[in-house]
Amino acid sequence: MACKMDITFENGTKMPALGFGTWRASDEEVERALNEALEAGYRHIDTAPVYLNEKTIGKVLKEWLDAGKVTRDELFIVTKLPPHGTRASTVQKYLKRSLDDLQLAYVDLYHIHVPFTVPEVDGPFLMDDDGQIVLETTTDHVALWKAMEKVHEDGLARNIGLSNFNQRQIQRILDNCQIKPANLQIENHIYLQQPELVKFCKANGISVTAYSPLGSRGIEKLLNREVPDLLDNPVVKEIAEKLGKTAAQVLLRHLLQRGISTIPKSTNPKRLRENIDLFDFDIEDSDMVRLNALDQNIRICDFGFFPGITKHPEFPF
Ligand code: A2P
Repeated sequence: MACKMDITFENGTKMPALGFGTWRASDEEVERALNEALEAGYRHIDTAPVYLNEKTIGKVLKEWLDAGKVTRDELFIVTKLPPHGTRASTVQKYLKRSLDDLQLAYVDLYHIHVPFTVPEVDGPFLMDDDGQIVLETTTDHVALWKAMEKVHEDGLARNIGLSNFNQRQIQRILDNCQIKPANLQIENHIYLQQPELVKFCKANGISVTAYSPLGSRGIEKLLNREVPDLLDNPVVKEIAEKLGKTAAQVLLRHLLQRGISTIPKSTNPKRLRENIDLFDFDIEDSDMVRLNALDQNIRICDFGFFPGITKHPEFPF
């Protein structure tokens, strides 16, 4: 079943509301899963250089495009400027690198992945003697956004957006931009609904995409701490049972009905099909109210896997 719902950006661009997330999917997994996802009807694909899978995604997309199984216009490809690229002088370089890896002439949406900067190195982050990430603290969002506007004007990115920026940081861009961010990508799910930030974005014509909509199951190992299991919430389970749907489908449909697009990741053929099968039911208003009431301001993806990053002056949370 294809994604039958679009989110329309303020500039008129349409993006399928349900996308395919690829964070924490290895090359081998992503090759198989992306083929399955395209078969299942996913057309919005979300990636980033830090996920280390752009080349494989590019290979699969090329196979589908060359075989005429999909046209470029039908695809909506999103990637992101990595943390070691968040300075004006390196925006074009990193976008071109992603385009080479993805084997595309343009992306549909280019995000600044995080509002902070780390030094450019070949390979993983530069660590100091205390095991902390070395920071580059001169991040200048206004200059950076100008460089984002330039790659948009040059046709390399059809839309430009932000990820993991807070309200103050977004406001600063809005106060200084020629082109507004089309989209904000943030962690969002029943336990971190961020109603104020979502309202602020809507009021300013910025669409919102939720990452970790299922709570990033399996991320415990990376974070080295327990995280709540969203699929086990009794209210979610009760609503799922009533609708004859799974808990995951209720979580995803809740976001769509809040007007938020989302990018669940799954490398499992059955689950990735389940996650896009969301367009033949509605959560009724009274149940939406119950789901909205589950918000507990619990951030799962707090960047705890970047030791020392909270010391960056533009750390957003
Ligand atoms: P898998 O890839 O094995 O399906 P998020 O998108 O919130 O980061 O969550 C992704 C995690 O949730 C992955 O571990 C994924 O595992 C799992 N997952 C994805 N879809 C479902 C589903 N429908 N039911 C249960 N777990 C799911």
